[in-house]
Formats: sequence, structure tokens, C-alpha cells
Amino acid sequence: MEPTLASAQYFLFLTFTILSLTRPSPTFQAMALTSTRLVIKVVHRDSIHSPYYNKNDNVTNRVERAMKSSILRFTYLQRKVRRSLPDPDFQADILPSVDGSMFFMNISIGQPPVPQFTVMDTGSSLLWIPCLPCKRCSKQFGPIFDPEKSSTYAYLPCNSQFCHYAPRGRCNLLNQCEYNQIYIHGDPSVGILAREQLIFKTSDEGSAAIPDVIFGCSQENGNFKDHQISGVIGLGFKKLSLAAQLGSNFSYCIGSVFDPNYSHNKLILGNGAVLQGDSTPLEVIDGQYYVTLEGISVGEKRLIIDSSIFKRKTWKKSGVIIDSGSATTWLVQQGFEALRNEVQILLDMWLTRFWYNAWALCYMGTIKQDLVGFPAVTFHLARGADLVLDTESLFVQIQPYAFCMAVLPSYAAGDNITTLSLIGMLAQQNYNIAYDIYGKTLSFQRIDCELLDD
Ligand SMILES: *[C@@H]1O[C@H](CO)[C@@H](O)[C@H](O)[C@H]1NC(C)=O
Ligand SMILES: *[C@@H]1O[C@H](CO)[C@@H](O)[C@H](O)[C@H]1NC(C)=O
Ligand SMILES: *[C@@H]1O[C@H](CO)[C@@H](O)[C@H](O)[C@H]1NC(C)=O
Ligand SMILES: *[C@@H]1O[C@H](CO)[C@@H](O)[C@H](O)[C@H]1NC(C)=O
Ligand SMILES: *[C@@H]1O[C@H](CO)[C@@H](O)[C@H](O)[C@H]1NC(C)=O
Repeated sequence: MEPTLASAQYFLFLTFTILSLTRPSPTFQAMALTSTRLVIKVVHRDSIHSPYYNKNDNVTNRVERAMKSSILRFTYLQRKVRRSLPDPDFQADILPSVDGSMFFMNISIGQPPVPQFTVMDTGSSLLWIPCLPCKRCSKQFGPIFDPEKSSTYAYLPCNSQFCHYAPRGRCNLLNQCEYNQIYIHGDPSVGILAREQLIFKTSDEGSAAIPDVIFGCSQENGNFKDHQISGVIGLGFKKLSLAAQLGSNFSYCIGSVFDPNYSHNKLILGNGAVLQGDSTPLEVIDGQYYVTLEGISVGEKRLIIDSSIFKRKTWKKSGVIIDSGSATTWLVQQGFEALRNEVQILLDMWLTRFWYNAWALCYMGTIKQDLVGFPAVTFHLARGADLVLDTESLFVQIQPYAFCMAVLPSYAAGDNITTLSLIGMLAQQNYNIAYDIYGKTLSFQRIDCELLDD
């Protein structure tokens, strides 16, 4: 068996649906305070509605991509965390790629509107879209946005307060605010900051516009030249991210990471975000979201784990990130081994082990048939918030005849930061996950994502 981890382009892409939208006033500040409610339908990358749709793809291919891209994602996060300390001005982010991203949004920009197929990503914080004139730009699904043809476009002058927040910002000779968003891997996105209207398609075939969204009008984004991605919507939290511009609350609900036909995945931006259920303290560091994991239970049994291994200590570059870009969960060695040992005790006597690679715990069989009655696994987060994983959230069917635990040890990823953990998307499946950034709270509630439609 080839030991490479397979993986996930379980890219989802998004179509926007707006339930109710009070048209924000055209200033950034005012916009942040309005009760904007954007309900964006998240469509799987491999759905028939996606331009990435490949009819020859099967669930095995998708899971393989998911596993492989989870490794890349976590490795890049480890690198980002490692680099952020010695050089806080480095401002490198994680560049989502066709192989590493999960969600896409179909938005339109400008007047007349130009559709853009953008990646939604919590690993980076800038909203940017390729613009003409483009020196080195990615291939696109549609036309590249031409600011000169849009009546609603305005560049930000250098005296704009937002200019200070531009990554590696500087003023150019035309009084434009240049940014240079560098990434841990791959070429940077270079361009100027500007304001434009973003247009979201509503589920009832209508549309709604949000004026004056600040975005990076990218004139160089070389890394995408072999891929078809037309921009990045960074939901990580820095001053210029869309999340910050739309009121600092957002939520998402993913019903199935591996089913491209599941049609109720959604992202809600702005103050209409649904903040219900258990809540736990949320910390934003360098745009990334951290939670406090205190322990893990399998069924009623609390595993013996020294909870300090999950603590965030700056000097150790440790902590637990909650992320939308990795399908799998990553735990520091002691936490991983405690969970793996317990799962092994429960399954070894019933099922045959399947060798996938040196560190994944895999068995012959199917999740649906062979794990009936398997106890729920609970991640206990601070303040009594419990994230409960059923078998579909804890395991992944990597072959029609074999499955693996979708929790992996941090040391197995590519970087040497072994003190970092990450809660991935499978673990968040069937939960509405809500971020209240100023309130420093993450709320989550187990829910059928379909019920969020109203
Ligand atoms: C999926 O397709 C690959 C070839 O791309 C094939 O090897 C594999 O057996 C297929 N899996 C299933 C479940 O059909
Ligand atoms: C995105 O929306 C535009 C119209 O707003 C449409 O023309 C285009 O086909 C859509 N793209 C995808 C991939 O759904
Ligand atoms: C975010 O949600 C919380 C909880 O519902 C609410 O108290 C807060 O006002 C919201 N934040 C903003 C900026 O509206
Ligand atoms: C998704 O729907 C298509 C067409 O309806 C079907 O052929 C395909 O098998 C479905 N895929 C899954 C994973 O259910
Ligand atoms: C981790 O790797 C980096 C370079 O990849 C190296 O500079 C650093 O010393 C390593 N740290 C440890 C603890 O091995």
C-alpha cells in the first residue's frame, strides 16, 4: 500500500444567499455596525455545480485529497506559528490552494458585476481578487476584474486609516496604498487596496450588494497561474478581513465534508451569525483562531491526559487552533496516543488492522456497519463546552473496505513544531460553529445545517 496520505479537495464552494440584508451605509464603520445578515450557501468543490467537478472522481479520490491536503495545511500552520515569533512583522499567511482549500464562494464584484470564484479561508485574512492590469495572474474561470470598467471602484488613498493595516503596505507614486501579502509557501499577492461593491446571489435568484468593501486589487499572484482560483476571501481576523468589515461575527455549518451533494453547507457573515449552544473562550493570534482544549473522553471515560499539553504558551508555540482548512484533527503526541490507545482497546479485538502509514490508526471494515455502537468521543473545551464527535466525525472511510481515525499526531506533519494541535473540519461537521471575535467567544451547537435556512 502506498504510504502517502490521500486527500481532500473536498473543496466546497459557495453561492451566496442573503436572507435579510439591511443595506449598510457606505462607510466602513457604519457597515460594521449594521445588522447585515448574509447567508452564503456553501457548495462542495466536487459538486456538479462546481467548475472543479470531475465526473471520474469517486469518494476514494476525494478522501485521498482531503488527507493529503490536511497534512499540507497543518504543516503550513506549523510554519506560520514558528515564524511569527522571531519576526512579528513578517506577516506571512497561508495561501489556500486548489489542493488545500475547502470552500469557495461565487461572488460578483463591481458595477457591472463580474463573477469571481473565490476561496473561503480561515488561514489568511485578506480579501483579494485579481485585477487588470495583471502582471502575473492566475488562470480564471471567468474574466479578470477591470477596475476601469467599474463605476463603483475607488482605490484607497494613502491617507486612509486602512492603509496602515495593509500587509507590508506602502504608498506608491500615484497615492495608492500598495500591499504585498506574502505567504508561507508560494508567491505573494501584490496590488493596491481599493473599495468595491460585492454582490451576493440570493437563494431566491435575487441579489444583494454590499458597497465599499475594502479588498486587495491584486496585480500579481503568480502562485495561482496553474490553478483556477479567482481570489481569496480571508476570514482569519485582521483589520482588513471580510469578517472584520462585516461586523466581526460569523458562523458556518458544514453537514458533510465528503458528500459533494450535500446542499445545506453555509457560511453566515455579519451580525446575523447564529451564536448559540456551548460557548468557550476564543483567542485570535496572528489572525488564527485558538481554543482551550482541556481533555478528551471516549464514551463516559475521561482519558488520562495532562491538560497542560494543549495550553497555549507563546514561547512554546503551542495551543489548539480551530481551522476550516484541514479535514483531520491533529493532536500533540500525548493526546493523540491516549485517544489512539483507547480506540485500539475498543476495536482491536473485533476488527483487523489496515496499514495505511506509520502513524494512522486504520481498520478493515466500514464505518457504517462496523462501528455501530461505538461510543462518542468528546473534546472538552474550556468553560464546559463539549464538542462531541460521532463515528462519522472521528473516522474517515479511506477505501471502500477500510477506514482510519481522522485524528493524527502533530509530529507526523512536515514541520518540527510538535506542540501545536488543530481541530479540523470533520470534527466540526454537523455543528454550527460561530465566532464572536470581539466577545472572544466561540459558540457551537450540534444541528442539522438545513435548519439554519430561515
Ligand atoms: C476510484 O477511482 C480510482 C481511480 O481513480 C480507483 O483506483 C478506485 O478503485 C476507485 N474507487 C472506488 C470506490 O470506486
Ligand atoms: C457564479 O455566478 C455567476 C453569476 O453571478 C455565474 O455566471 C457563474 O456561472 C457562477 N459560477 C459558478 C461556478 O457557479
Ligand atoms: C456578536 O454576537 C454577540 C452574541 O450574539 C453579540 O452580543 C455581539 O453584539 C455581536 N457583535 C457585533 C459586533 O455585533
Ligand atoms: C451525487 O449526485 C449525483 C447525481 O445526482 C450522483 O451520480 C452521485 O452518485 C452522488 N454522489 C454521492 C457521493 O452521493
Ligand atoms: C525546526 O526547524 C527549523 C528549520 O526547519 C530549525 O531552524 C529549528 O532549529 C528546528 N527546531 C527544532 C527544535 O528542531
